[in-house]
Amino acid sequence: MHVIPITPTFDAWRTAARALLARNVPPADVWFEDASADTASFFAVNNVELPNEPTGCGTPESSKSTVPKEFLSLAKLVACHRDPARWALLYRALYRLTHGQPYLLELESDDDVRQLAQMAKAVSRDRHKMTAFVRFRKVDDAGREHYVAYHHPDHLILRLTAPFFVKRFGSMAWSILTPDECAHWDGRDLTFSPGVDPSLAPQQDDLEQLWGDYYRNIFNPARIKLAAMKKEMPVRYWKHLPETRLIPDMLKDAPARVEDMMSKKLDEYPSAEAFMPAKITLPALQKAAAGCHGCPLYKIGTQTVFGEGREDARIVFVGEQPGDQEDRAGKPFVGPAGQVLDQALEEVGIDRSICYVTNAVKHFKWEPRGTRRIHAKPGAREIQACKPWLTAELQVLQPQMVVCLGATAAQALMGKEFRITRSRGQVFKDTQWAPWLTATVHPSSILRTPEEDRDAAYKAFVADLSVVAKALKHHGPRRKSDTQLTRPPGSDGGAQPGLFDAPAPAKSRKRSRS
Ligand code: URA
Ligand code: SF4
Repeated sequence: MHVIPITPTFDAWRTAARALLARNVPPADVWFEDASADTASFFAVNNVELPNEPTGCGTPESSKSTVPKEFLSLAKLVACHRDPARWALLYRALYRLTHGQPYLLELESDDDVRQLAQMAKAVSRDRHKMTAFVRFRKVDDAGREHYVAYHHPDHLILRLTAPFFVKRFGSMAWSILTPDECAHWDGRDLTFSPGVDPSLAPQQDDLEQLWGDYYRNIFNPARIKLAAMKKEMPVRYWKHLPETRLIPDMLKDAPARVEDMMSKKLDEYPSAEAFMPAKITLPALQKAAAGCHGCPLYKIGTQTVFGEGREDARIVFVGEQPGDQEDRAGKPFVGPAGQVLDQALEEVGIDRSICYVTNAVKHFKWEPRGTRRIHAKPGAREIQACKPWLTAELQVLQPQMVVCLGATAAQALMGKEFRITRSRGQVFKDTQWAPWLTATVHPSSILRTPEEDRDAAYKAFVADLSVVAKALKHHGPRRKSDTQLTRPPGSDGGAQPGLFDAPAPAKSRKRSRS
């Protein structure tokens, strides 16, 4: 009997199995033992316990046989199973595959094959749980942000699953702690260290808040099935998941929430119309919008991000929806897309401070991705629900020109058929929103353009905006303070001459809603 200690990894087993196979050792003559990571380094599989390589008879036929790829993938999973019998099972299957049963894996009713399949399935399921339930918490690591998660897997899946987290959270420095071993990623290298006690995992941080908010807001009490939840998310994991700490509270509130949701199914949210103030002025609109529950987005956004700018603005820019930074600041276009817009406006000589900037949807729609809130596209119903705010803003402002930034804004105002690619930079006359309307790409699309094309994309954006600048210059300023858009003396004579020459007093221009 050969006793073979195996560091519990696939590679260690493969090295041992190759050596055994080369010596034609039958499975019944081998006893595999799990060696801890610490003791394993003392064993060199090739010179302990193994019988001498057969001499004089060449390589045995068996080791020349090729092992199906399918077996290797299966073996990688099975090697992660916690059952100590897995090494012997794997070797038995390997031996049979290479000793006259090359089609062994097709025999589904074979005991070994069945056991292999069961183990592989358990491991796959456990990996899936790990990818779904690991939550990082932020810790301060000598002034650097480090994210730490504690997870308790059923099987030894950390090494096999860590690359998933490298791919997903490659730009963060993180550690995943498990009782068996720990994985560490510093942005460049993945390393492993011995397992730790759960008490070493940090307990609190603002990410918890983020996950908690998200979970609470997507939590649908009507769908709670505790038994199903326990099956999907074993209670063992619950204490490590910030959001599950909310479950008892949420369950407590569930009856009330169910009632609330039943009376307001998603498509039965009232739309912003129900929140319109009696008197339509910008301050009144802004105040009323702050309390809007016209669609479910109010639940996940921090605050309503209403339009901002001068009441006598001649140009209104309409974006899609606030982004992460706008959501925090409560102001539109203050994040990266806003910076692109600002820069382009400066290039074409439009002073943003004399414009009005708003969005088709006034709440930030997002999904958590690890530590970040990722923009999620607003749906048709949300755009529709929010449209009364935009309509009212345009009604009060009565701008000379509306500039749609991106397809969401353009389609909200010009209909579903509107295509930015086809119509960008064109000026549409006498629209229901303003005498002139134009559309261009969303500035964030420039940030997403591959680097080699970004400059051209930006230039095209600037070219579209220069149409706006030109159109407005042509008509001169509405107000004396519009210094950026001074009309050259005597250059009247555009399509609608005199439009700004004698602006009506602001009050009489505002239509009442009734
Ligand atoms: N993108 C938008 O559409 N609007 C903003 O306010 C910010 C980013
Ligand atoms: Fe109201 Fe618009 Fe916010 Fe929906 S997105 S809650 S309609 S303000």
